[in-house]
Amino acid sequence: MEFLTLAKNRYSCRKWKDTPVEKEKLEKIIEAAVLAPTGCNYQPWKIWIVQDAHKEEFRETAKIRFEAPVYMLVGAKKDEAWTREYDDWNIADIDAAIVATHMILEIEELGLGTVWTGHFDAPALKEKYEVLKDYSLIGIFPIGYPDKGPSHLHDKTKEVTDLVSDL
Ligand SMILES: Cc1cc2nc3c(=O)[nH]c(=O)nc-3n(C[C@H](O)[C@H](O)[C@H](O)COP(=O)(O)O)c2cc1C
Repeated sequence: MEFLTLAKNRYSCRKWKDTPVEKEKLEKIIEAAVLAPTGCNYQPWKIWIVQDAHKEEFRETAKIRFEAPVYMLVGAKKDEAWTREYDDWNIADIDAAIVATHMILEIEELGLGTVWTGHFDAPALKEKYEVLKDYSLIGIFPIGYPDKGPSHLHDKTKEVTDLVSDL
């Protein structure tokens, strides 16, 4: 699909059908994530896939309301990321955000839907799952076949002139 068409079609999906997501499609989402650029190509990120029997426990611990066939949790590890020497600015969260952006666009391309979920109980997840403890948890991505269109927020955008100007 032409990129701008893909970008225009994408919206935050918050309701999904029960239809399972094919393994090949999940692999493509991961492929898109791996292709994302990161500072110095350090790839200081990780994706955890949550499905089947683990879903309920995960959803309850994270305190998210979204019920989807699969979840992907994206984390960034500061120790493994590039840091700018002038002001110690660490790029881990940005790297992971680019990864997540690749994922959501590939999800759209595959005819699936997701919503970047930033509102969840990250400390509770870290307490329950030891492997998460060294990561900054940047988002949970519920994934499935869409059962609802965009919310009113989708079209609530600023004017381009408010967003872009000459310096
Ligand atoms: C970093 C980030 C965090 C977000 N967290 C949430 C969230 O916790 N819950 C939610 O319903 N939507 C969340 N969203 C979705 C935004 O509300 C949504 O992208 C925005 O309103 C524009 O709508 P659209 O994605 O349909 O175009 C998040 C989006 C981003 C980029």
